[in-house]
Amino acid sequence: MLARSGLRTARAFGSARTSATRNATRNASTQSEGAASWKNTATLSASTALAIGSCTFYYFQFGRSVHAMTPAEEGLHATAYPWEHEKFFKTFDHAALRRGFQVYREVCASCHSLQRIPWRALVGTMMTVDEAKALAEENEYDTEPNDEGEIEKRPGKLSDYIPSPYKNDEAGRAANNGALPPDLSLITKARHGGCNYIFSLLTGYPEEPPAGAVVQSGLNFNPYFPGTGIAMARVLYDGLVEYEDGTPATTSQMAKDVVEFLNWSAEPEMDERKRMGWKVMAIGSVLFAMSVWVKRYKWSTIKTRHLQYNPPVAPGKMNPRQSRR
Ligand code: HEC
Repeated sequence: MLARSGLRTARAFGSARTSATRNATRNASTQSEGAASWKNTATLSASTALAIGSCTFYYFQFGRSVHAMTPAEEGLHATAYPWEHEKFFKTFDHAALRRGFQVYREVCASCHSLQRIPWRALVGTMMTVDEAKALAEENEYDTEPNDEGEIEKRPGKLSDYIPSPYKNDEAGRAANNGALPPDLSLITKARHGGCNYIFSLLTGYPEEPPAGAVVQSGLNFNPYFPGTGIAMARVLYDGLVEYEDGTPATTSQMAKDVVEFLNWSAEPEMDERKRMGWKVMAIGSVLFAMSVWVKRYKWSTIKTRHLQYNPPVAPGKMNPRQSRR
């Protein structure tokens, strides 16, 4: 936009200059040289002043950026990390998803729900049917009302959704000093910066808040959180979980795994979507090439047609072209 308007201005200046030169040439032939150059200088100076003036006016009117929030209020901008699943040719790292789910289950699940994910979604993406069934059965769910209208408890099934840690939002707030731990199913989509933000948030707790930072009681300092005071304390520490595949459970490893898992929960269709995308590209490019060929084929008679105009022969005169034949 800026570049384009700059180009336009340059072009306008260019044409001003040519017309000025043209004026000068025309003037030089009719008037005395001194008067002409005075007029040109005045015109050019006036238009330059006008241009600068209007740029300044527009800058002060619309150009200044207004900071409704300070950077501290917006939170520190998260670093961009080279996530494996964001690459063009890559699927989710399913071993990381399995580890990430373990971190969610062992660490985050005590405060955060994952309401949109049923146990069956884990099958084939990060565990076997039997493993998922066993996990589901560890939880109790309400049955349908029986003949007497009583609701009983039954062990979970694959079709059940992962249970929430609290009965309702109020209970969640009450247990966390008034702050509601948000549902994590779509959290990577729900926050600016997505995976990068959540990774930075989880690993970004300093040992001590920096000098001069004001942290309200009950809150923790985290520079990535808008406002810098977050109700969630640091939750990940080296060696907190024990990965069954032997991966060292450092803070950053766990954060990376759980973020990849949360990204899966927000877009579980990604692998399928990418595969579909490649099919579309492959078939689409063949169809495109064919349509180009068909177009050239259909147009070839028109494109190679030769139109010739033979003017009528005036009586008594020989048409030179016809005479050549
Ligand atoms: C002890 C309870 C607790 C645990 C455990 C916990 N959280 Fe939180 N979390 C909270 C609370 C409370 C908030 C709300 C913070 C606020 O609004 O100030 C929160 C907020 C968040 C947010 C949203 C931040 C935002 O931008 O609004 C994310 C993301 C998050 N937690 C991720 C996690 C992950 C991932 C884990 C597991 C590794 C985890 N949490 C473990 C209590 C917890």
